[in-house]
This record gives sequence, C-alpha cells and structure tokens, in this order.
Amino acid sequence: MDDNIKIFKGNIIFTPTKDAFKCHNNAYIVVENGKVSGIYDNLEDKLSKEQIIDCSQMLIVPGFVDLHFHAPQFANRGLGLDKELLPWLETYTFPEEKKYEDIHYAEKIYKRLVHEIWKVGTTRIVFFSSIHSESTELLFDLFDKAKIGAYIGKVNMDRNAPDYILEDTEKSLKETENFILKYKDKSDLVKPIVTPRFVPSCTPELLEGLGELALKYNIPVQSHLSENTHEVAWVKELHPESLNYADVYSKYKLFGQTKTVMAHCVYTTDEEIELMAKNHVYAAHCPHSNYNLSSGIMPVRKFLNANVSVGLATDVSGCHETSIAKVMVSAIQASKIKWLETNREDIALNTSEIFYLGTKGGGSFFGKVGSFEPGYDFDALIIDDSNLGNIENLTLEERLQRFIYIGDDRNIVDRYVKGTKIKEPEVF
Ligand code: GUN
Ligand code: FE
Repeated sequence: MDDNIKIFKGNIIFTPTKDAFKCHNNAYIVVENGKVSGIYDNLEDKLSKEQIIDCSQMLIVPGFVDLHFHAPQFANRGLGLDKELLPWLETYTFPEEKKYEDIHYAEKIYKRLVHEIWKVGTTRIVFFSSIHSESTELLFDLFDKAKIGAYIGKVNMDRNAPDYILEDTEKSLKETENFILKYKDKSDLVKPIVTPRFVPSCTPELLEGLGELALKYNIPVQSHLSENTHEVAWVKELHPESLNYADVYSKYKLFGQTKTVMAHCVYTTDEEIELMAKNHVYAAHCPHSNYNLSSGIMPVRKFLNANVSVGLATDVSGCHETSIAKVMVSAIQASKIKWLETNREDIALNTSEIFYLGTKGGGSFFGKVGSFEPGYDFDALIIDDSNLGNIENLTLEERLQRFIYIGDDRNIVDRYVKGTKIKEPEVF
C-alpha cells in the first residue's frame, strides 16, 4: 500500500458546522498525504489488518486550536491575578516578558511550553512572543521542530510602557521585517504574524509601518481589541480622530487587509462587529482570561449572529489554563451568564457550537483545518475515555461532552498534525 496513506478505525466525531456533530461509530477515516480523503463505514473486506491503525474503542476528534497565547507569560500562569488589565500588565506581565532578552531563560521556558502544548492536544496555535527577536526565533524553531502548527509574532510596542520593554520605532520595524524575511518561507507549519501589542502601546508611525509590512509580504495580523473598559477609554483619549477602537487598526491597514485575528472583543460595538464581519476579521474568545482579569463577558452569540468568524483562546497568562477543552467549558459557562444578563435573549452556546469554535472555527484561520471533511488536514486527537465512566451506553456526542468537561491530557493517547504523529517533545 502507498506509504502516504493511513487508515484509522475508531469512533469519529467532528463539527462540519456549528449546529451539529457528525458521528461515525466504528468507522474508517482514510488519510492521504496528510489530508482526509473520506470516511467509510466498512473497508474491512478491502484491507488487511496490518493496514489499519486500530483505535476501535476510542474517539477520533479534530485537534484543538488556540487562537491567542502569550508565550513569554507561560511561567506566570496562576500568579498575579488580582488586578485588572492595565495595572496587571505593568505589575506582573512586563517584568516577566523583559526576561526574554536572555536567550537561556527563553530556552528553558519555551522548551517546557512546547511540551505543554503537545500535552494538552493543541495542534495549531497563534502566539505573541515578546519584543525580543532572538527569543522569538527560538520559539519559531522549537515549534517547527515539534511539528505543531503555529503563527508566531514578534511583539511590537513603542509607547506607554516602562522603558525596559519599549522599542525604538524604526528598530522595531526593521527587526520585524528581518523576522518576516527569514521565516516566511522556512516552514510548512509555522509562519510569522505581524503583532502590534495593542493600540495604547503603538505609536501611529509604528502602526503604519506594520500595516505596510503586512501588506507588502502578505502576512497575517494579530492584536487585542476592547478587552477592558479602561483600555477602551484610553484608546478614545489617544485617538479622538477615530470613530472607534477598530477604526484605529483599520486606518493603518491592520484590520482585515490581510488575515487578522483580534483577541477578546468584550466591548466591541455593533459598528465594529459589522466591520469585522465585512473585513473577515476573526475574534479570539478568551473567557478564562476575561474572568481572571475582571474584564467582562464577550457577547459571542452576537458575533455569531453577525457572521463574524470566532475561535477560542487561552490568552495565557491572563488565563491560567493551557487546555482548549477547559476553555470550551468556561465559554459555555460565560455564555449562560450572558444569557441571564440579556434577559434570556442571547441563547447560551451548546456543546456542538463550542466544539466547533475550538476546532474548525479557529482552525479556518490556518486553512482547511479543524474538521474531517474531505480535503482537510488530518489534525487529530485519539482519545481513550474508558476511565471516565461507562462507554457502552453513551452516544459519541455524550462521550465527547464528558471528556471535555471531566477529561484531561491523560485521556489523549496520540496527536496528529497533517497526518503526522507528533512525538512527545524533549524538555531538557
Ligand atoms: N493587552 C495588551 N497586552 C496584553 C496582554 O499581554 N494580555 C492581555 N490579556 N491583554 C493585553
Ligand atoms: Fe492577550
């Protein structure tokens, strides 16, 4: 048989749309050159046993996608969560990010980070690194080596922060361009992304230069949008000429002119939501972080109704969790409180919707990722949920829901990205 064909037998479950799971009990998924070519109920008569990767009792689901994660905040998880966004950045976050000027510190933490992302079953991830080019390159190389899909952005910031974490505008742009040139064609799975930290920490000159770089090299963009009320008021003060927060990014061609993802969107106005839909700007929903930093609750239903693409994200270290399954649970809980807050108008998210957001919703930022429809990259988790309770009398949907709520990385037997099994990365 062709070496480029893999056939998995098991209980296949995924969400081609957010409205329903597609389930195939004890079926076969055929993967050719890393992509799904089809799902079949019976192939037994055509194949010998050796040709099948047998996961008979297990669940086969798409890998998790995390649309927003601050790599240099990894060591701060669970620490310093007693402040709102702006004082939190100054007190805990910037001092930690400063440490990444030391490549040895970066190496120690980033090796643990790669292992953690592998462990929790995240197969694609969008990273902010720090302002430091050398550490950013190291992060890129580690994920490339691990064969986990990622966008990696060198952070840009040149105003309104302590000197030790600020950059000279021109140097910031030059280093970003160098990073793009060195890495844009280096890896099939890991790519650069343009990363202005957020409007308050970037001068108009920096935003303008970054918008030009993104367009010149067709590089995607990520930033933060309307996470906290003080932040939104500050942006209004800094940019009285702009219609709203999104308009500042838009003016500098950082809002959908190339593929764009904005984290949080808790206080995004109807006009901004409309612009996001029109410009195909993604929203990364980070409910855990929004709770920890007392930011608020993103009205996800409103975004879905307006046809904005939404994915899930941890936002470590605003979020103490690394697992997108845990974020799925907190997104459902957040949406239930939002339902109450809106006089029961914004219907809470259900399990298929939340699974969609954490797989195909965010996955579409990477291409045909997050589903098992023909032509999709085979990014998958093999899950043994037999220690979570009875598996005989449950539907696949019930088993998956139970895994999301009470399972953890110990249930994940194997991880695949583009059809390749991802080996456990070495930490030391
Ligand atoms: N806004 C600007 N920087 C950050 C950050 O590091 N984390 C979060 N949650 N929001 C931000
Ligand atoms: Fe963030």
